[in-house]
Amino acid sequence: MPENPSSAAPAAVRLPRYTKADQDEILGGGDDPFGVAAAGLTWLPKEEHFGVRYGERLVAHAGLLRLPVAIGGAETEVVGVGGVAVAPDMRGHGLARLVVAAALDHARTMGPRHALLFCRPPLVPLYQRLGWQPLDQDVLVEQPETRVVTMPLRTMVTPLRDDAYWPAEPVRLLSLPM
Ligand SMILES: CC(C)(COP(=O)(O)OP(=O)(O)OC[C@H]1O[C@@H](n2cnc3c(N)ncnc32)[C@H](O)[C@@H]1OP(=O)(O)O)[C@@H](O)C(=O)NCCC(=O)NCCS
Repeated sequence: MPENPSSAAPAAVRLPRYTKADQDEILGGGDDPFGVAAAGLTWLPKEEHFGVRYGERLVAHAGLLRLPVAIGGAETEVVGVGGVAVAPDMRGHGLARLVVAAALDHARTMGPRHALLFCRPPLVPLYQRLGWQPLDQDVLVEQPETRVVTMPLRTMVTPLRDDAYWPAEPVRLLSLPM
């Protein structure tokens, strides 16, 4: 981690906006910074954004939005978490933990009982460490032109309330993934 230009410990804050330039500031402008292009999916932008600044730099981000989902026969909503990113030179110092925790603190005020994210299989242990659980069942998601596809990435959930329980039922996101 480079020398901190301010003496304060990094803190996560809500961002008023999050642009492609902001994402490039964190991850660089590469073609596939999340490593998910091979899945060939269309993704939703996130609606609420949380970030960590280090001096003048934006160095971490997590985004949120509410999404409709069918779990078994029941339709409900989840808070989708996406765009989790930490600048390469700042990784391994807890910034993903910090920014995801700030996003989940806000998610607890949004109503849904669970948050849900999609990630590459190598990231499952990292999110488990942050309190997320992988789903064993396939998860269907929508794609353009009313296609429904099986999500090729891993799906993970975390409760937003003490009494939340995720049933072992088929899951279908009633929207594009985030
Ligand atoms: C994935 C990414 C966000 C992680 O950021 P990071 O700041 O290095 O993560 P943190 O340092 O906060 O680590 C989070 C926790 O996971 C743990 N962890 C990290 N790698 C782990 C692994 N392979 N197995 C188990 N735990 C792991 C850390 O020890 C930490 O736990 P702790 O706080 O209890 O020590 C970062 O590598 C990144 O931006 N990658 C590129 C974009 C991307 O793929 N984003 C994910 C989209 S789903």
